[in-house]
Amino acid sequence: MSTAYSVVGLGKLGASMAAAVASRGFNVIGVDVNQRAVDVVNAGRAPVQETNLEETIAANQERLRATLSHREAILNSDVTFVVVPTPSDDRGAFSLQYAAWAFREIGRALAEKDGYHNVVMTSTVLPGSTRYGLLPLLEQESGKVCGPDFGLCYSPEFIALGSVIHDFLNPDFTLVGEFDERAGNQLQACYADIMENNPPCQRMSLENAELTKIALNTFVTTKITFANMLADLCERIPGGDVDVVTNALGLDRRIGRQYLTGALGYGGPCFPRDNVALSFMARALGTRADLAEATDRANRSLVEKVAERLCATIKCGTTVAVLGLAYKPLSHVIEESQAISLAKSLSRAGVRVVAYDPLASDVARAELRDQAVILESVADCLAQAEVVLITTPDPAFRALTAEDFGGKNLPVTVVDFWRILDKELVGQPSVRYVPIGRSVDDAANGARLAALWSGAAAEAD
Ligand SMILES: NC(=O)c1ccc[n+]([C@@H]2O[C@H](COP(=O)([O-])OP(=O)(O)OC[C@H]3O[C@@H](n4cnc5c(N)ncnc54)[C@H](O)[C@@H]3O)[C@@H](O)[C@H]2O)c1
Repeated sequence: MSTAYSVVGLGKLGASMAAAVASRGFNVIGVDVNQRAVDVVNAGRAPVQETNLEETIAANQERLRATLSHREAILNSDVTFVVVPTPSDDRGAFSLQYAAWAFREIGRALAEKDGYHNVVMTSTVLPGSTRYGLLPLLEQESGKVCGPDFGLCYSPEFIALGSVIHDFLNPDFTLVGEFDERAGNQLQACYADIMENNPPCQRMSLENAELTKIALNTFVTTKITFANMLADLCERIPGGDVDVVTNALGLDRRIGRQYLTGALGYGGPCFPRDNVALSFMARALGTRADLAEATDRANRSLVEKVAERLCATIKCGTTVAVLGLAYKPLSHVIEESQAISLAKSLSRAGVRVVAYDPLASDVARAELRDQAVILESVADCLAQAEVVLITTPDPAFRALTAEDFGGKNLPVTVVDFWRILDKELVGQPSVRYVPIGRSVDDAANGARLAALWSGAAAEAD
């Protein structure tokens, strides 16, 4: 008989996982404490906004249902993925407050269940959380013993919002942290059935898997921050161009080109908190994660650096348009968005901020309230702005042409963090084009380098 699954937590990750597993022909029961999420899934719709989620749920309604009852879900499935929030606490660690509640409920249900059941923690947690924080709750509530009576794994997913279903079904590898071989064998077999691309499976202890998940995210953020550092340097070198440098660097197989673009910093619900959590973990274990701390510091200081530079060149009361408010293109999520921080920072400095995002304008309006005027279109922003900041490489902004920026008495300054409009705007009289990561004043940059090295040449003479 084919494996039946339950997914606890029908949020941004869990709802997509439930739908994806159902789309592979398995019966799935989703559990959420939120009545609306349960009702929406049972009505064949998506409880959260995510690419293809609504369609996938609708197409697999006969295999996917939702309930408020953990008991019902556990008793009618073989494997349970737990995908509840693990928010950052005051120390920067990932809190187990929601997971603990879910695990107690699952434990109570396990007490009533005959036969083996595998509980898989999917939410991001720090090393030790699954074994020392959550496993005891399962044993206490069920009166059973992990290993012989039920299985336990830690197995995170490596997905990006906006492509969760695709990423979940087509990962580079699956990561199985296992309490014991039996639990790991079962989960590996499940993934072999579920995944579309036959990915390699990495099996390890619970703690190594917990560390691997956060290590992967912090490594990527370090790479992003490294590229941002290069961008900053390139702006100060005559002819400097971060794309030239990173395109070459990316050809080295040890490095690779992804996440090496040099632009604004990273944001969103996951990345920013991972370095903080890793730093917390290191300190708690009597050491330090200096690199994680440096990455986090550099990323958080980026917006202030940009705002200071801008404010040094513009008058108080200038209208600045921020195009792009979500933390990345094609997203409605503004959590830890650098563009939102930038808008707030400029507003505090006395700049009049107008802004637009194709998907995130509504949430951003609530967040920015009196700190920016959210307009209905790019054109509305361009009509009012003397300075335009393009903060995400959104297709709507890529499609802009020189004509869109025309019609003003004075040239409009366009700060293009992702250099998406260089072909359109370089050399246009109606625009002062400022590509981030490139030298825009070769003479001044050259003079600075000359001053640095001409002394050495004179000494050698
Ligand atoms: N969103 C991402 O891109 C992403 C990526 C990788 C990992 N993660 C991790 O996955 C976890 C979940 O993230 P998310 O973005 O899906 O969160 P989310 O806030 O979108 O959704 C969580 C859902 O869990 C429900 N919930 C809370 N407690 C519950 C309980 N006891 N039983 C049943 N349902 C419960 C909530 O009502 C909500 O619907 C987090 O640990 C996160 O770090 C998220």
